[in-house]
Amino acid sequence: MITVEEAKRLAKRTLSARRYQHTMNVKKLAVELAKRNGADEKKAALAALLHDIAKELPKDELLRIVREDAIITNNAAQRPAAVWHGGAAAVLARDRYGVDDPEILSAIACHTTGKAGMGTLDKIIYMADMASYERDYPEAEQLRGDVLADLDRGTIEGLGMSIAWLKQQGKPVDSETLAAYADLRARYYGGNNR
Ligand SMILES: [Fe+2]
Ligand SMILES: [Fe+2]
Repeated sequence: MITVEEAKRLAKRTLSARRYQHTMNVKKLAVELAKRNGADEKKAALAALLHDIAKELPKDELLRIVREDAIITNNAAQRPAAVWHGGAAAVLARDRYGVDDPEILSAIACHTTGKAGMGTLDKIIYMADMASYERDYPEAEQLRGDVLADLDRGTIEGLGMSIAWLKQQGKPVDSETLAAYADLRARYYGGNNR
């Protein structure tokens, strides 16, 4: 399996300077969130370094890669193009870089949308990406503080914001995001929040 150092070099030579900077910021926040939530810091670092590794590939290649494995990509090929790069990155991480840890692969695959039944590492990477240090939308700093204080509550907030933004822009909300939101609210607050 690729090491954290190797993944860092891979990200540096594969990604644009801007996306590499984003990736390093995601890694920083992911490691901090792992520390605070008793998760494996190395796994968090590796998932963060690889999460956008496929993002700059051409659309047709992304589609070809996500079609290779519907399970690991959560059926990405059947879903909006914006989610393909997470699934594709998980396939590349496994097949090209020897990542065999299901938690890392899951966190990479669902980093754009979340999914029902998100585990700790899934939440960490989803939120480290959404609230990474270079993000400058108005709520970014507050969201970062909230997720650092409480991973579950912060992730519920993040998912809710993402759904609201997509609706405002008239874009379709991925079913996985709605499922993640309903599931996490039910688990956190109890009762039936659907
Ligand atoms: Fe991404
Ligand atoms: Fe990202």
